[in-house]
Amino acid sequence: MKKVITYGTYDLLHQGHINLLRRAKELGDYLIVGVTNDNFDRERGKLNVCNNVLERVEAVKATGLADKIIIEDYFGQKIDDIQKYDVDIFAIGSDWEGKFDYLNEYCKVVYLPRTEGISSTMLREEKQTIIKVGITGCGNIARRFVPEAAFVNGIEIAGAHDSNPAALKEFTATNGLKNAYGSFDALLEDVDAVYIATPHLSHYSLAKQALLAKKHVLCEIPLVLEEEQAQELYALAEQQGVILMEAHKTAHCPAFNHLMVMIKSGAIGEVVDIEASLSRLLPDKTRREFDPAQAGGSMYESAVYPLLPIFKLLGTDYQKLNIYSRMENGVDIYTKGVMRYPTAVCSFKLGLGVKTEGNLVISGTKGYAYVEAPWWKTDYFELRFEDQHKNKKFFYKWDGEGLRYEIQEWMSCIVNKRHESSRLYRKESIAMARVMQQFTQRKNFEKI
Ligand code: CTP
Repeated sequence: MKKVITYGTYDLLHQGHINLLRRAKELGDYLIVGVTNDNFDRERGKLNVCNNVLERVEAVKATGLADKIIIEDYFGQKIDDIQKYDVDIFAIGSDWEGKFDYLNEYCKVVYLPRTEGISSTMLREEKQTIIKVGITGCGNIARRFVPEAAFVNGIEIAGAHDSNPAALKEFTATNGLKNAYGSFDALLEDVDAVYIATPHLSHYSLAKQALLAKKHVLCEIPLVLEEEQAQELYALAEQQGVILMEAHKTAHCPAFNHLMVMIKSGAIGEVVDIEASLSRLLPDKTRREFDPAQAGGSMYESAVYPLLPIFKLLGTDYQKLNIYSRMENGVDIYTKGVMRYPTAVCSFKLGLGVKTEGNLVISGTKGYAYVEAPWWKTDYFELRFEDQHKNKKFFYKWDGEGLRYEIQEWMSCIVNKRHESSRLYRKESIAMARVMQQFTQRKNFEKI
């Protein structure tokens, strides 16, 4: 029996794919089709694939041409597959001419004629609606947003607004944006969606104003500092038929999400303890981060990061949270939180004037997960066990500033009218605001 193997993404399956599969099948008696996994596609820079891997597998199956369908997960897998399945011919479209000659060492390589005039990219572009986005707040984070948005299809940055005209002028000029809006109202009138990157205390009113104007909102962390405000904004977004998302970059990080699903699938047994830390030493004490009038301090600045793995793995119904802070000039330069759950205990450490080891350790009944600093930009983690032979290391790629993942998910929610993303459920974002509110109200709080 002559075995043929071919690979592809097969997004929005089209006639070109079907012709290719038929030609490949005709080369032998048994056709194996490798469909790329979502994570693998993302690593290859394919951020805009419309169908997920299951839908793509179903589409290939429906052609009736594949005798076996496998998932392509990693770079280098083709050689493994060819050997494992004892493949005779590797076939691929002529757009890849020459690129797979290295496989000749393992089997015959055939480049098949490609069907002219059709591709997934073309179909995606035809389907695509362009979302016009305006940025408010031209600080450091917005500076990173513009180049990252360039990796995502279907988004156009229309312009920006900032209360400081000089900062606005400089920002629009350096980023090549055509509009420097004179007011937030003027920005809202011209766009479909807003990215809010202003200081914390302005988030609530700006987001509310944008939602009332039926604009989608991506708001920097922390969304708001009060539980009721968060609830109100999410309800308002749904009522207005627009998408509100908190710009929590770790929640959209592919490696972090893989860690979460592995632990939820029982990789380290039942989770009993989570310790997560994050600290930054900022020598310039005149910055906004140290100003109590602008919600400075380590809690408001970074609590959403350690709360993410805690809420993802243990839920938002913690029984008790004790907060201990070192205060300096009205802001917490260090905060430690201890959270009790019915069958687990967690702690987080946040520093702005104190340095800690910034790692994440998730302990379970069968082993533990160790993610070294900076775990909030996860690109590597280890699962460790009593029997060290069972330890496993996982490596990933964190592309650029990583904001492209959250922008892509926001766009996907807008286009598909999904009010909630499983990457950060609304109740998780609301619970983060609840924690900050408890801190503001100094409940179960002690100074150290
Ligand atoms: N293919 C083809 N003719 C086309 C499009 C694709 O023969 N018009 C072949 C490719 O050469 C490859 C297989 O179909 O062997 C799967 O390709 P894939 O990358 O999934 O499809 P594209 O439409 O090329 O996708 P994209 O536009 O995202 O690159």
